[in-house]
Amino acid sequence: METKHHFSSRIGFVLAAAGSAVGLGNLWRFPYLAAKYGGGSFLLIYIILAVTFGFALMITEIAIGRKTGKSALYAFSNLHKKSGFIGILASIVPIIILPYYCVIGGWVVKFTWEYLTGNGRAIVDNNYFENFIGSTGEPLLWLFLFILFTLFVILLGVNKGIEKVSKILMPVLIVLSAVIAIFVITRPGAKDGIIYYLKPDISKFTFTAFIAATGQLFYSMSLAMGIMITYGSYSSKKDNIESSVRNIELFDTLVAILAGLMIVPAVFVFSGGNEEALAKGPTLMFITLPKVFDSMKGGQIIGAAFFILVLFAALTSAISLMETVVSIFVDKFKTSRKKTAIAIGIYTVIMAIPSSLGFGIWSGISIGDKTILDLFDFISNSILMPIVAIMTCIFVGYLIKPKTIIDEIESSAPTFKSKKLYVIIIKYIAPILLAMIFIGSILDVMKIIEL
Ligand code: PHE
Repeated sequence: METKHHFSSRIGFVLAAAGSAVGLGNLWRFPYLAAKYGGGSFLLIYIILAVTFGFALMITEIAIGRKTGKSALYAFSNLHKKSGFIGILASIVPIIILPYYCVIGGWVVKFTWEYLTGNGRAIVDNNYFENFIGSTGEPLLWLFLFILFTLFVILLGVNKGIEKVSKILMPVLIVLSAVIAIFVITRPGAKDGIIYYLKPDISKFTFTAFIAATGQLFYSMSLAMGIMITYGSYSSKKDNIESSVRNIELFDTLVAILAGLMIVPAVFVFSGGNEEALAKGPTLMFITLPKVFDSMKGGQIIGAAFFILVLFAALTSAISLMETVVSIFVDKFKTSRKKTAIAIGIYTVIMAIPSSLGFGIWSGISIGDKTILDLFDFISNSILMPIVAIMTCIFVGYLIKPKTIIDEIESSAPTFKSKKLYVIIIKYIAPILLAMIFIGSILDVMKIIEL
């Protein structure tokens, strides 16, 4: 039996968890949502939700992980025998997400490579992106590389792999975000774009916007997929969980806001104030942005810096996903970490293939207008995650009781400062918000509302 792995320091744990939280969600989805749903007013609501709702859910998962020392699969049953099914559902989520996340990771590696080898101009061609993701061999090669690197870090271990890599990549990521944002907002004409991004427009802040903000937050903080439970199980019994969560949140929200500052004004200026240009989906990142960079002086360098930033964000998120899946299987089958990791690596490659080919030779396979990748994304993000999160709140609020979590926090801190707020959120507010996200996704699919 191997001994349990641990992060060696609080900062290592915070950076690894922030590495998981900061991902593609921060870099393309957040800026787009903020621009669409009222700029400053969206930002304000998002921040309020982050320090209340997001805070409560994240602290819950980390405390559950640390208290039980288990992965999501057994953490719930460890605290309450009959609740094992929540662990099973929570474990299915990263198992579904990991392969398709690596497909997008592969695209990012390819774009980074093109910029670094001086091909940044080639990708501006209108059909470049679609031709690339629609081809058969090339995307598979890049996703294979992405998976290989992720696996390599996992094999190095929690402390020598994940923690070390996060300690290097995360500071670089923050610096790059700040540098790119400053570069963009000092370009001529950027002012209108900044105003568009930051100025509150209450009329755009609708009920749908509120659901979108809640959904975004919950995805952005890597909640309801067992990740924070696994990372919590590796954290030290001496760390102050409350302040760690505050730090992780700060990191995640800061990068999201900076991403908005680098993307919204740039796209806004480039497209002459056309809001459609900020449209949803990978097209913003892989088609519009390269064009925007191409139109700027020094744009090739900024383009390279931007894709390195995205690559680092995607890697640390993929690492957290793979680690979570590995920890689930090690818990279940008591196999060695190394063998399990290699098996999961092979699984990831095999399952990523259909998601990748779904944009090309297998594009005929689709349900409604969803490609294979979209389908996996929908099942995990829109169906399973809200269900797992609601059940987690009910589990804590009414079965094991908030006191169990509060005691865990207070075992390593003089006091749990936001204790009262925590209880109210976990018992009443979070389940309602989560039910709204869930109903919102269903209505979205039925095309009754558009998120
Ligand atoms: N939190 C990540 C983001 O904001 C998303 C993520 C998804 C991370 C799946 C890990 C696993 O993009």
